Amino acid sequence: MEESVYKKVLNEMMNDPRIRSMQQYPQHGSCNTYQHSVYVAEDAYRIAKFLHMHVRETELARGAMLHDFYLYNIRESGFSAWRHGTGHALVALENAEANYHLTDLEKDIIYSHMWPLNITHLPHYRESILVGTADKYTACRERARQWRESLTAIWHFLQEKMKK
Ligand SMILES: [Fe+2]
Ligand SMILES: [Fe+2]
Repeated sequence: MEESVYKKVLNEMMNDPRIRSMQQYPQHGSCNTYQHSVYVAEDAYRIAKFLHMHVRETELARGAMLHDFYLYNIRESGFSAWRHGTGHALVALENAEANYHLTDLEKDIIYSHMWPLNITHLPHYRESILVGTADKYTACRERARQWRESLTAIWHFLQEKMKK
């Protein structure tokens, strides 16, 4: 697996204005959907390298960057966490299909990334499993950072209070 191919495709996607539009939509904590997608793409590749897996890197990069291409603000959507959790993979796939010519593998990455929450959206390719795994790992990391930032803020607040 050549890192340069993966990086080249990832960079193309990162500079695509349609992808960059995800910067306006918040994700976990202080992260936006664009940053989150970049983290997922980087982590999916890292896991593949660590496990010496052969992957189709162009489709892995494109699928990872489009997996959350649902293009709405969760906080303003009025959707419950359940509705967003179970529904956004299909919305992301429909948006991606309207904007890009996708391979079956890329469609599978997007559609199945919320498995096993979406129990019937089984991943059919190793790249889909990689993105699904990287997505869950990244979400945990983003939440952990959010908690750390909150605890640090509380700690500083208490220190200020104790000085008085
Ligand atoms: Fe997602
Ligand atoms: Fe995600």
